[in-house]
Amino acid sequence: MSPPPGVGNEKTYVELTALATEGIIKRIDRRLAFYQINDDARSMIVETGRIIDENMPQIIAAFYRHVGTFPEAARFLSSFDVAEIKLRQKEHWNRLMFSGFSEDYVHSAVRVGVAHYRINLPLYLYISGYNNFMGNVVDLIVNHYLGALVSAQHLRSMIKAISFDMDIAISVYTVADRLKLKPGGSHDGADGNLPWH
Ligand code: HEM
Repeated sequence: MSPPPGVGNEKTYVELTALATEGIIKRIDRRLAFYQINDDARSMIVETGRIIDENMPQIIAAFYRHVGTFPEAARFLSSFDVAEIKLRQKEHWNRLMFSGFSEDYVHSAVRVGVAHYRINLPLYLYISGYNNFMGNVVDLIVNHYLGALVSAQHLRSMIKAISFDMDIAISVYTVADRLKLKPGGSHDGADGNLPWH
């Protein structure tokens, strides 16, 4: 039996990325079906995506203002070029909304999971960070589509896409767990939380 992958080395992350991506792509149709991401939902995601895209700079700015007021979250950004991460976030959200859940999108979503796993970002920070983003998206959609039924349908579609996106990034953590990897980040959950919780 081969030894478990090493801790925090490049080969480990390459293996993790490959395994997570392969597993998701193999069963992507069933996953999309379970989320009820059908043709109607897809076209609504694209339509609503255009409104989100127009407002993306403000949504991203609000996200970083939020993170900046929580030192336990902001410390993960200290050694990174935040302008570069913002750019990659915008690109990722564009793939989520406009690429029709393509392989390119799956690669991007797995990269998000691996990037966060690598720095040992606790899942509660990822999910609560996404919650900030989602709250602003909800405000946008409701204000844009003032008719209650229409906005409910658009919200429903966007929630499907966002849940799907979170699901893939979080799956990377569970694949890493199964591989018995340990994240390589320098943050150890010093706020009393276990690193992944
Ligand atoms: C408190 C919450 C969060 C913190 C502190 C955080 C921090 C970071 C850091 C430091 C990186 C750079 C990692 C690297 O380049 O090695 C990164 C990458 C990234 N993050 Fe986050 N993140 C958070 C939440 C989120 C959320 C909610 C999303 C939503 C999708 C997101 C999307 C991304 C993307 C797209 C990348 C680039 C991945 C790539 O390399 O392609 N992050 N994040």
